[in-house]
Amino acid sequence: MGAVNLNNIVKRFGTFTAVEQTSMQIPEGSFTTLLGPSGCGKTTTLRMIAGLLDPSEGEIVIGGKRVNDVPIHKRNLGLVFQNYALFPHKTVAENVAFGLRYRNVAKADIARRVEEALELVQLPQVAARYPKALSGGQQQRIALARAIVIEPDVLLLDEPLSALDANLREDMRVELKRIQARIGVTTVFVTHDQSEALALSDQIVVMSDGRVEQVGAPEEVYNTPASEFVAKFLGASNILDGRCLSRGPDGAELEVPVFGKVIVPAAKAPHLAGEGSAKLVVRAEKLLLRDRPPEGGAFSAPASVETVDYQGQSVRYFVRSGETQLQAINMIDERPFPVGAQVHLTLRPQDCAALPG
Ligand SMILES: Nc1ncnc2c1ncn2[C@@H]1O[C@H](COP(=O)(O)OP(=O)(O)OP(=O)(O)O)[C@@H](O)[C@H]1O
Ligand SMILES: [Mg+2]
Repeated sequence: MGAVNLNNIVKRFGTFTAVEQTSMQIPEGSFTTLLGPSGCGKTTTLRMIAGLLDPSEGEIVIGGKRVNDVPIHKRNLGLVFQNYALFPHKTVAENVAFGLRYRNVAKADIARRVEEALELVQLPQVAARYPKALSGGQQQRIALARAIVIEPDVLLLDEPLSALDANLREDMRVELKRIQARIGVTTVFVTHDQSEALALSDQIVVMSDGRVEQVGAPEEVYNTPASEFVAKFLGASNILDGRCLSRGPDGAELEVPVFGKVIVPAAKAPHLAGEGSAKLVVRAEKLLLRDRPPEGGAFSAPASVETVDYQGQSVRYFVRSGETQLQAINMIDERPFPVGAQVHLTLRPQDCAALPG
C-alpha cells in the first residue's frame, strides 16, 4: 500500500518555482532519502506528499491512489519533523496515544499499542513522564513512536536528527534504521547530511535547485555520480577537466591534467556519449599517496605535499601536481607524509568516473 509516486510535480510560491517538474518513484517498504543543500526543495516536496501543501501542477499517488484532493488526516501518514514538538502538558503515553484516540481506537487496544511502540523505540520506562523530563534524543524517539503507533502507510521524516549532537545523532540513526527495517514501513527521509543519507537509505534522491539530479542506491550515486553536482555534494571529489578521446565497449579514454591519458571502465562512464569535452571524477579517498610509482595497472603522477590535516586514523592532504591542486584522504598505519614531501599519486582505473564536460 505504501508506494509513493510523484508525477510531474511543480510547486510555485508566487513567481518563484521551488520544485520544478519533478517525478520520482518511492518503492513500497523502501527507505528513500531526499538529499540536497539548503533551499533545494526537500521540505517542500515532503510537505506535498504529506498534504500540508498543494502542488501547483502534477499528481501525487500513494498506494496506487491519487491523493491530491485527500486531506492530510485521511492520508494515514506518520510525520516527524525537526521541530515537531511533543505536547508539553501530556505525558509520554498520552503523546503517543494521541493519533489512536483521534482515530477512535478502543481503550484497551490503545494501551497495548502505546506499550508496543514505546518498546520499539526502547523507552518503555518513560511512559508516565512529561516531555520536559526527557533528553533531546529521547524526545525524538517518542516523536517517532507517536508517528509509527498509528501504523502509517508512509512515514515522513524531515531532518528528525538535526537538533541532536553528533554522537547521539549517529546512535539515533542506527536506531532509526533498525526500527524501519523491523516494521517495514515505506519511509521518506529528508536530510542535507550526505553521511546520514548513505548510511540509512535503500534509495537516494539527490536534489539541487528544485530538480532531481540523480536517483539511485547509495553505492550508485556515490561511485557513479550522474553530474558534477552529485560528485561534489557526496563526499570530497577532485574534478579534472579534459577531453574524451574515444568511447568503446571497454571504456572511455580521457586526456586530463595530472594523469595524462586514462581509461575509465564503461560502467563508470555511463553518461559519456563519445568524443568531446569530459571530466574525470576522482574521489579524495581513492587518490593514494605513495613513496614510489605503482607497479602495473594504476595511473600515476608525481606531486608534492602542500597541506597535511591529520585526523587520527586518516589524513587529508592537499597536494600539487604541476598547476593542479588535488585533495586526498588516505588511511595511515603510522606517520603521514610531511609538508613538502615528493610523492607519487596513484589511482586505479576502476576508482575513476567520467562525466560529460
Ligand atoms: N511558503 C513559502 N513561500 C515562499 N517561498 C518558499 C516557501 N516555502 C519554501 N519556499 C522557498 O522554496 C525553496 C525550497 O524550500 P525548502 O524548504 O523546500 O528547502 P529545503 O531543501 O527543505 O531546505 P533546508 O535544507 O534549508 O530545510 C526555498 O528557496 C524557500 O525559500
Ligand atoms: Mg527543509
